[in-house]
Amino acid sequence: MSLPVGTSVEAFGWVKTRRDSKGISFVQVNDGSCFADLQVVVNENVIPADTLKAMTTGASVRMKGELVASPGTGQAVELLATEGELIGPADPATYPMQKKGASWEFLREIAHLRVRGNTFGAVFRVRNRAAYAIHKFFQDRRFAYIQTPIITASDCEGAGAMFAVSTNLTADHDGQYKLSDRDAATDFFGKPAYLTVSGQLEAETLALGLTNVYTFGPTFRAENSSTSRHLAEFWMIEPEMAFCSLEGDMNLAEEFLKEVIADVLENCADDLAFFNQRIEPELLQTLNHVSSAGFERMTYTEAIKLLESSGESFEFPVFWGADLQSEHERWITEKKVGRPVILTDYPKEIKAFYMRLNEDGKTVRAMDVLAPRIGEIIGGSQREERYDVLEARIKEAGLPAEPYWWYMDLRRYGSVPHAGFGLGFERLLMYLTGMKNIRDVIPFHRTPGSADF
Ligand code: 4AD
Repeated sequence: MSLPVGTSVEAFGWVKTRRDSKGISFVQVNDGSCFADLQVVVNENVIPADTLKAMTTGASVRMKGELVASPGTGQAVELLATEGELIGPADPATYPMQKKGASWEFLREIAHLRVRGNTFGAVFRVRNRAAYAIHKFFQDRRFAYIQTPIITASDCEGAGAMFAVSTNLTADHDGQYKLSDRDAATDFFGKPAYLTVSGQLEAETLALGLTNVYTFGPTFRAENSSTSRHLAEFWMIEPEMAFCSLEGDMNLAEEFLKEVIADVLENCADDLAFFNQRIEPELLQTLNHVSSAGFERMTYTEAIKLLESSGESFEFPVFWGADLQSEHERWITEKKVGRPVILTDYPKEIKAFYMRLNEDGKTVRAMDVLAPRIGEIIGGSQREERYDVLEARIKEAGLPAEPYWWYMDLRRYGSVPHAGFGLGFERLLMYLTGMKNIRDVIPFHRTPGSADF
């Protein structure tokens, strides 16, 4: 929002920099509401000298004055101060957010302050807008926003990478664990309980009554892998649609990504221009392209054939039945196709038990959306709606039947074809900002060995 010259303004924010020249001070102030700083021009004696001197990087201030046309480059208007107040000083001898060129690792250690810099201010504004755009996308289509439990007794992905939730284990302030002699049956929930890896199974129950639903909440994975794409706590968006096949699911995923990207392009133009200039030189070109071009669709089997005949030497072997690694996904999207790709019909052995079995008995109606630069961004499927087939798949996966009794009931009473997907919110943000490490698109990251703040 830009106000006309002549407007009286009272501005609150934190000092980015202050430059003093020939009795005039130029104070760059930012309150985080937009990328551009407000330049405040302070003529001699307008603010007491010692107050002005204490307006150093990181200090919080209140500035009052009138907007005037700016003779300098970089801003159309500036604030000619008539008053200035120091709200909270920031000792330049110790304030950690002032070094230019600080490493990403260092900035993670001061995650409570990094939001005041250009990059993280922009990341969290994009994060906010993307969240809004996601809700808007679903609400415009009359999907119901539902909340699924964070503590659950069933393993949605069947992969076992779950954090247990228990009151049997306590820790004192010295970091010593104490384990009671109670077992899971006498524990808080009377059975083993975990932090959810996905709200999908519960979302399915609500879809089979409300038809179109979506979740947007935190999910947890205890995978002990320290990569730039994995978090132990991440936010997932999971739409689920009754009376829907994989085809409809893919169409929704494509429309969804395109619309959210277009919304952020429109509403975070300054922030994205910064990322394009400083983080990822082809960001705007890619985002504009993705928001308009069609996604390529191919089966897993076709992808394996392409990889086998690529002539590339991959670190991980390529063969039918192998789980695709990030290097394979990147080759397909970046080198072969040059835009997002939806891969479908994966071997059942490498996918979750709930995916609908194809007629061939070997593949399932799964889909992964792969994006250039980051690989898998969406995972989804048509769900197995046939009672007998699902029962056999749970058994085959070596999972206990008991915790899924209610999930089976959906197949017993009024079962319908249904489908859905999960988008990792932080993976989307990496894509939107060009940031290279997933730890830098969430305010406070949780990864192996790290749960600060
Ligand atoms: O492919 P996933 O495991 O799918 C599910 O959880 C399904 N239940 C979703 C559904 O059909 N409703 O995970 C979905 C997405 C991935 O494509 C990825 O974007 C993200 O979640 N994701 C992670 N993001 C950050 N850190 C991790 N450890 C992630 N694991 C998955």
